[in-house]
Amino acid sequence: MKFEKNILCIGAGYVGGPTMAIIAYKCPQYKVTIVDINPTRIDAWNSDELPIYEPGLDEIIRATRGKNLFFTTDIQRSIRENDIIFVSVNTPTKTFGAGAGMAADLQYWEKTARQILQYSESSKIVIERSTLPVKTAQAMENILHNAHSSTFEVLSNPEFLAEGTAIKDLENPDRILIGSRETESGLKAREVLVEIYANWIPREKIITSNIWSSELSKITSNAFLAQRISSINAISALCEKTDADITEVARAVGMDRRIGDKYLNSSVGFGGSCFKKDILNLVYLCRQYGLNEVADYWEGVVKINQYQQERFTLNMLKAMFNTLADKKICLFGASFKANTSDTRESPALFITKKLIEEKAEVVITDPQALRNARVDLANIDGKISFIEDPYSAAAGCHAIAVITEWNMYKELDYQKIYDAMVKPAALFDGRNILDHVKCHKMGFNVYPIGKPSLTHF
Ligand code: UDX
Ligand code: ADP
Repeated sequence: MKFEKNILCIGAGYVGGPTMAIIAYKCPQYKVTIVDINPTRIDAWNSDELPIYEPGLDEIIRATRGKNLFFTTDIQRSIRENDIIFVSVNTPTKTFGAGAGMAADLQYWEKTARQILQYSESSKIVIERSTLPVKTAQAMENILHNAHSSTFEVLSNPEFLAEGTAIKDLENPDRILIGSRETESGLKAREVLVEIYANWIPREKIITSNIWSSELSKITSNAFLAQRISSINAISALCEKTDADITEVARAVGMDRRIGDKYLNSSVGFGGSCFKKDILNLVYLCRQYGLNEVADYWEGVVKINQYQQERFTLNMLKAMFNTLADKKICLFGASFKANTSDTRESPALFITKKLIEEKAEVVITDPQALRNARVDLANIDGKISFIEDPYSAAAGCHAIAVITEWNMYKELDYQKIYDAMVKPAALFDGRNILDHVKCHKMGFNVYPIGKPSLTHF
């Protein structure tokens, strides 16, 4: 069958996989190929057990794989055969050299640019899909402009999907943003991408801009979302001192239409691969331009997030008579949010490390993320176990800490859990998802976030 367009995505991760699956699903007239250097990942995408958990993704993959969606490790051939190339390789925070801990590590990204240059035999549209520092497209252009015969147009098309709701977000996004050079060829390339999205997204939701605005909008969106969480978390600390209730405060504040009620759930802290990374990226960029006041302002968002996680652990220590040595603590949840297997920057990892430093024994339970958590915590010297069934995980523990807001944790039989725990049994609700009064009546000492604790002492 002859397809209308041949689209490639380099990088088969949390972003590339679902995004391309939706393009293939919505546009059966296009052939979509996803390539990755990691053969294990590609094997998993081609198997019944996908490498990532995302609600609704299995069905989409089943409907498209082998028809117009293909997974491969053959980079050379994929680049040669496709004229529209999305790049969604990983861009983690740099761990070495200048900008370590702050700047984006662009090594995978640059290697990809060089591979595109090396294997291309015709002109291409290259689309940045990973989150990148502003002006990265310039570097991509500079590398690609070394081509002899082919020409390349670099576009920025940042991803706004959130894990756990990726399919919904991709099917019905708030907006699609496409940035390009405002030259004749840049505008033409922009239109090619608009046409792809227009297959299922109303035109008025597809917005275009200059390429730098597009890059900066992505980082700014994430910084704003994270800022809301840090703002409410900062107030949660004050609530705990003043007997105010963060849920009541968030409701009252969020009903102001100018503020809105989204991203005001106080929590143990935000995690995930984007928020911290993007803000640190923004901070680094501002410092490079000498905008130290702006950098300090945004850095505060990350500092409050760190503080919230530390505060949570210190509250546990204080509530449990200032010693955790040899106490068994069960973490409900390892993923950074519900409905994903992703553990990147999950507060569960930080809290586990802190509890181990206090010589506690940690039992981690999670319906989807234990495989990743095991890998993340493999080098930690201490007693950590991983048990999928929450009842077995909590049995014999001195405390439970709810870290992830999985729905299933709201529906457990807490009386049964309480009966099997060491007394006094503590319940730290890092997501405020449980019925605190009910759990207190059962016998738990309950410690929510940003609300008065309910104890029996
Ligand atoms: C985020 C952005 O939402 C998305 O647009 C971007 O493309 C990638 O980064 P993601 O990290 O997948 O998506 O999840 P998100 O739902 O935004 O949650 C991030 C973190 O904030 C999670 O740890 C979540 O639990 C936490 N959170 C979110 C809160 O603590 N409180 C809230 O009210 C909302
Ligand atoms: P994200 O959350 O941004 O999607 P992931 O780490 O889940 O990040 O996915 C990025 C993917 O990109 C990984 O599977 C990695 O193997 C892949 N990758 C990195 N560099 C290259 C490259 N040069 N060619 C192909 N794939 C690459």
